[in-house]
Order: sequence, then structure tokens, then C-alpha cells
Amino acid sequence: MTTVKNICCIGAGYVGGPTCAVIAYKCHDIKVTIVDVNPTRIAAWNSDKLPIYEPGLDKVVFDRRDKNLFFSTNVDGAIQEADLIFVSVNTPTKKAGMGAGRAADLAYVESATRRIAQVATSSKIVVEKSTVPCRTAQSMRTILEANSTKEIHFDILSNPEFLAEGTAIDDLLSPDRVLIGALQTPEGIKAQQALAGVYQHWVPKDRVLTTNLWSSELSKLAANAMLAQRISSVNALSAICEATGADVDEVAYACGRDTRLGSKFLKASVGFGGSCFQKDILNLVYLSEQLNLPEVAAYWHQVVVMNEYQKKRFVRNIIKTLFNTITNKKIAVLGFAFKKDTGDTRESAAITLIKDFIQESAHVAIYDPKVEREQIYMDLADSGGVVDTRQQVEKQVQICSNAYEAAQDADAIVVVTEWDEFRDDQLDYAKIYAGMHKPAFLFDGRLLVNAPKLRKMGFKVNVIGKTELAGTA
Ligand code: NAD
Ligand code: UDX
Repeated sequence: MTTVKNICCIGAGYVGGPTCAVIAYKCHDIKVTIVDVNPTRIAAWNSDKLPIYEPGLDKVVFDRRDKNLFFSTNVDGAIQEADLIFVSVNTPTKKAGMGAGRAADLAYVESATRRIAQVATSSKIVVEKSTVPCRTAQSMRTILEANSTKEIHFDILSNPEFLAEGTAIDDLLSPDRVLIGALQTPEGIKAQQALAGVYQHWVPKDRVLTTNLWSSELSKLAANAMLAQRISSVNALSAICEATGADVDEVAYACGRDTRLGSKFLKASVGFGGSCFQKDILNLVYLSEQLNLPEVAAYWHQVVVMNEYQKKRFVRNIIKTLFNTITNKKIAVLGFAFKKDTGDTRESAAITLIKDFIQESAHVAIYDPKVEREQIYMDLADSGGVVDTRQQVEKQVQICSNAYEAAQDADAIVVVTEWDEFRDDQLDYAKIYAGMHKPAFLFDGRLLVNAPKLRKMGFKVNVIGKTELAGTA
């Protein structure tokens, strides 16, 4: 079996950074170099304030940095030194051209692959870590093979990443499974075993799954589509709950106790966000269309349609409850990240909601414990949506340094991210209530607060998937 001694990771983002830092942490005998074309990001990885917030990440990085873990902008040098290269670059949804709005933009994957082909001076195992459409490895192979020589040979593996943000380090340290796909040739299987050997430094052997290349690529899209599908399913039920008096938490619990269904990923919400779910489902939809499978495409597309519906439904409900107008009213938004324990805002439901509030001429006060002020302004001023000027955003949006400041003189509080510090046993809601305009409304898009308790304080509470009269005749 080939033993991997030197790893290069192209792309120092949310996946490349934590994943390869954990490899360095667990495999002291392997030199790991994470490279990126973005010098600011690399400088941050080499500083005291890492470029991403992730519980447990600091410890892992500070423990191994400059020992067997290095961050560098010298992409070519790291490629040349490595015997295994992870390609962990971004694969966003295409903004223009064929497949715009659905297909994955593979320009960064191609550019990284071409770079490897151009500068490699010895044989390499090239690993797709990025999430890519099924059969992308074929294109990478064509590029690399065109540059192979008798002395330089490339093997391609698919090793999709299943970590979730906010729990990335725990997910990486004890993964449910590691998936490695390879061409079922003697060389492919040898390369697969070499990568398996890296993970087996800390992952039990029975959790390292080996499959063919295409199964591995498709499994990543499939897993994300199925996870998001569960959220859209429970969110669809939340609308029925609100209309009938059923309680979505009770319904989810009752369903989840069926061991065939399981209890995870059944939390109703204001809609899923994050850089992966929507992008990967749209990618699967596009793939299905390309394969001339329109019914399959429509099936998966509905998961995204339901997610958009949930966000819009929440906004409509807020406006309706606030007497059909929020013009000049102050709305306090608690949370901006797409989920707790991350500073990532990509596709956060907060962005859609707040853009709608601005459009309705409300004043919005936002507090999030981990998202930087500039990031919030950038997201809201992004011309992709209804808001198109930075000036307008700055006029209507105030960024606050705590929940009390955001809620002062507000007509309504909207809980968008489920940060623990917004729970009613951590935040002084009586103090918040005292400072608000009356009636004081609270809209919980995360099933986070104890509604009866807050109602007793005087709040008018509206929780997704629940009605005040739930359970009564
Ligand atoms: P990211 O945008 O945070 O990081 C990608 C990095 O790649 C950027 O820093 C960029 O500068 C760099 N890059 C792009 N082209 C390059 C090149 N040619 N050479 C060197 N550097 C280059 O993205 P991410 O969130 O880390 O996602 C990476 C991939 O992993 C995507 O395909 C994504 O779908 C997948 N993924 C993401 C998550 C997640 O939770 N974020 C989870 C699983 C899988
Ligand atoms: C997801 C997948 O979980 C992970 O395996 C994959 O590698 C990347 O995509 P991530 O997007 O980081 O991870 O977070 P996740 O925990 O899946 O949450 C995604 C969104 O769904 C968040 O907005 C979250 O709040 C929401 N969500 C999650 C719900 O609304 N309800 C749930 O029950 C679970």
C-alpha cells in the first residue's frame, strides 16, 4: 500500500481548513500544507484570529500549526511537494450562461486541476473534496491524463465532505462515515487504500466506506438532498399545524420516535440556509434535467420551492399580525448567521426576511454574536435581491452589539437564528419587554423560546408551527 507522507489542500475555506487541520492533528507523520489564492485568508489562518469561527478549531490549528500544518499562498510549491492533493475549492451555483441558477460553477475546480497538471513533477493522487456533479471526476481525469507522462501518473479519487458548520471539528473527529470513491482499476483501488490509510489514523475501519467514483460523487448530492427534504417536509407540516392547532414539535417528536424515521433533522424553522443545501439540490435538479429525467428534477426542485415558501410565509405572517403594515416600525432581528455556532451567512434565511422588511419600509435592528457588521451590510446590499443600494440599507438597518440594544423601542422581535444566548433562560426577556413598544410582539422562527412563559410577561408570541390555542377545542 502507498503511504501518504505529504498532503496539499487547494482551498483554505470552511471545508479545506478544518478538514486538513484535523488530518494534521491526527497524523503527526504527515506534512499538511493548505494553500489558497486569497492572501488575506491565508494571513488570517496564520494569525491569532482564524478566518472562520468553528468551535474547537483554534485548538486543533494552534496545536499543529508550523509543526506539520502549514498555510501558504505558494500553490505550485505545495502541489510539487505533495503525494496526495485535496481539491477543496468553492463550487457555487452558476450565475450566468448555460444552467445559470442551477448548475454548479466548476471553473475553480477546473482551474485547480489545470494547475496541478501544469506544475506537477511527480505522480499524484488527486482527491475531489469539493461537492461536484456526478461524473466531474471524468473531466478532471481528462485534463490530468492529457498531461500524464511515463514518469508522472495521476489517480483520481472522490472523497466528499459531510461535516456541518458549527460542529465541524466533532464531525471530523468522529464521522458517521468517510466515503472514498475510486475507479475500480488496480491503480484506483491502490490510491483508495492510500487515502483510507490516512483516515484510519483515527477513524474505525468499518466507517471508511469505499465505492466506485460515481457512487461517491452522487452520494454527496443525495445526502444533502435527503437532509434538506426532511426540513422541507416538517416545514410543510408546520403550515398545516398553524392552521389546525396541531403542534409541530409534538408532530415531529411523534414521527421521530419511529426508529425507521429517526428524530434528527425534524426541527421546523424559518427555512434552511447555508452554502450547501440549496446549491446541491439545484445541482441535482440540473443533473436530472441533463439526463432527461424531468419528473426526477421536479421532485427534488420542490424541496427548494417549499423552503422559499416557508420564508415568505413567515414574513407575510409577521406583517399580517402587525396590523398589515410594518412601515416605520422597528423590527429587532435576533441572529443573522444561517444557524447557531457559525459566523457564516451564506443563504441565511435572515437575508431574505430582512430584505423584505426593508422593502416594506421598516427599520431593522440586528444582533448576531458572531457575524461581522460589514458582512451584514454586504449581504443586504447584494443586488441579487430587492434591495439594491448600500445607502438604503444603512438608512434602514442598525447593527447592534447585544439583544437588549436591538429590542429597545422595537415593535417586534424576530428570532431567526437559534443561538443559545437567545433562549428565555439566558436572556432577560422581562427587561426586553419593558423597553419595547406595546403591544410587544415576538416571532419565533426557531421554536426556541418558551412561548407560554413569555406570554405571561405580556408578549404577543407567534411561533412557527404552533398556534396560541394549540390543543384547545
Ligand atoms: P469556501 O468558499 O469557504 O473556500 C474555497 C476556497 O478555495 C476559497 O478560499 C478560494 O479562494 C479558494 N480557491 C478557489 N479557487 C482556487 C484555486 N484555483 N487555487 C487555490 N485556491 C482556490 O468554500 P467551502 O465552504 O470550503 O466549500 C468548498 C467545497 O466543499 C464546495 O464544493 C462545497 O460545496 C463543499 N462543502 C462545503 C461544506 C460547508 O459546510 N461549507 C460542507 C461540505 C462540502
Ligand atoms: C449541511 C449538511 O448537514 C452537511 O452534512 C454537509 O456536509 C453540508 O451541508 P450545514 O449546511 O453546515 O451542513 O448545516 P446543517 O446543520 O445541515 O443546517 C443547514 C440548515 O438547515 C440550517 O439553516 C439549519 O438551521 C437548518 N435546519 C437544520 C433546520 O431548519 N431544521 C433542522 O432540523 C436541521
